[in-house]
Amino acid sequence: MTGVRSTTPFVTGTGRAHGKLILLGEHTVVYGAPAIAFPIPEFRVDAVARVRQGGPDLDGPRDYRFSCGDPDDVESAESGPRVAVDEALRRWQRSGDVIDVVLSCDIPPARGLGSSAACACAAVRATAALYRRPIDQQSLYDIVQCGEHIAHGRASGVDTSAALAAGPIWFQAGRTRPIVVGTDAALVIADTGMAAATKRAVADVRATLLRDPLRARRLLDRATAVTTAAAEDLALGRATALGRRLVEFQLLLDELGVSTPELDRLITAAHDAGALGAKLTGGGRGGCIIALADSPYSAMTLSEHLRAAGAAATWTVPIRRPL
Ligand code: PMV
Repeated sequence: MTGVRSTTPFVTGTGRAHGKLILLGEHTVVYGAPAIAFPIPEFRVDAVARVRQGGPDLDGPRDYRFSCGDPDDVESAESGPRVAVDEALRRWQRSGDVIDVVLSCDIPPARGLGSSAACACAAVRATAALYRRPIDQQSLYDIVQCGEHIAHGRASGVDTSAALAAGPIWFQAGRTRPIVVGTDAALVIADTGMAAATKRAVADVRATLLRDPLRARRLLDRATAVTTAAAEDLALGRATALGRRLVEFQLLLDELGVSTPELDRLITAAHDAGALGAKLTGGGRGGCIIALADSPYSAMTLSEHLRAAGAAATWTVPIRRPL
């Protein structure tokens, strides 16, 4: 997913990555419970990196840009992708260089769909290509995580792992394995139109769990049980049971205080329209819900209902994809 292109008199590197959705396990995954996540190849981000040597700016769409090593670029100093590229340059003893990175991103930002991890992956890949450095998955994961810790306050690594994954994953305590999907059910993502507040939500959940360790243990055990059962439902193609797991996990997220009236409204609309189950996805406090439909056809109807109920945008993604 990286390339090197010589454009006299400059040399640029390019990199690409994709967004993700968390089926189950957000928040509790930060404390060692498992999560199930799906890469979304349709949500793509492309990055171009260049060593600044004077001359014209980088061309191309600029959904987002930042510069490493430029003292004037104070705005991006705390952004995950910038922190990740800074870390890559430090590891490669290139901290003195001034690097411009521009990103063209299809992933709606701040919607719990993995834009920060994906932008960081694409930007680091582009920078690796710029320096003709092969970069293995583990190094890329470690570097991107430096940025994700800034973006989330404390990042489990599920977003980064899903941004690097080729298919659905089971993620727990920093480890990832592919999971089997035996159903052709589809997921509809519906956007509340409001920015998610992942960092804040992660901090508040932490405070909630610390206040009552016994309750925290019970919640985490419940989260583990629901996600484990869901992996079995997925593998065996039990879409109706999987829908119930989404409902159970949403109750848990609600108890953790990360849902909002807007998310709840879309979840109710999804159920009214016949979804097998629905829940928020990602950090919450805004962002998106996911709703499970038993087939791509019913996903179309569900999608229409969600838009009629006020969703700012909807996307349908298959659960099982051809290899
Ligand atoms: O970046 P988001 O909004 O998809 O949230 C990531 C999932 C969390 O569990 C809330 C945080 C984490 O690092 O696991």
